Amino acid sequence: MNPAERIALSRSFFQAMCEPLFLCTVMANDRPNGCVVTQVMQLSYSDTPLMGVALGKENLTCSMVCETKRFGLSYLEMRQTKIAERFGLHSGREVNKFAEIAWQEREGIPLVTDVPGWALFRVCHQIDVETHLLFIAALESASPPTLPVLDRNMLLRISPDVANRLDPWDWLPDALHRGTLHVWC
Ligand SMILES: Cc1cc2nc3c(=O)[nH]c(=O)nc-3n(C[C@H](O)[C@H](O)[C@H](O)COP(=O)(O)O)c2cc1C
Repeated sequence: MNPAERIALSRSFFQAMCEPLFLCTVMANDRPNGCVVTQVMQLSYSDTPLMGVALGKENLTCSMVCETKRFGLSYLEMRQTKIAERFGLHSGREVNKFAEIAWQEREGIPLVTDVPGWALFRVCHQIDVETHLLFIAALESASPPTLPVLDRNMLLRISPDVANRLDPWDWLPDALHRGTLHVWC
């Protein structure tokens, strides 16, 4: 199977997963940034609840979490698709994603206001998984979410921009050229 076939297969397989869509946000050197993430997994319900979050190594958010070892995860509502597009389709290297939107700092982490739920985490392990770093992080504080929340498949239906961006044929040639493959499923 060639890389293109493998990506197309994995994408079609993961389509059935109905993952919530989160903003992963971080503050480093007084600068807020963040990105959309769906590669999020609850890992434990123990005294120290753990989450796993995979961040693409090329994302600015990833470098900032490496540096600060802390981040926030916020759910979004259906009506917040513009925020999802802003945080998921643009890099903080090019734009200040927090400009012109209401946000507040909570325990040193920037959080968009009016999100249906958020949690703050401290990184305890970091695992290299080729294109991504997997951050395993302990919950520090949280607000319980108000349902329903936006998920990846809803966003794909609502936002043509995101649907186009997630079409592998859009970015596969470039990723192959650079030798990196990102599979956002
Ligand atoms: C629906 C969707 C899901 C995404 N899931 C992830 C993810 O789980 N991990 C990740 O690193 N990037 C994910 N991305 C891509 C980042 O949000 C995107 O590359 C962003 O522009 C990175 O911004 P930054 O450079 O400011 O960190 C996703 C994007 C979309 C639209």
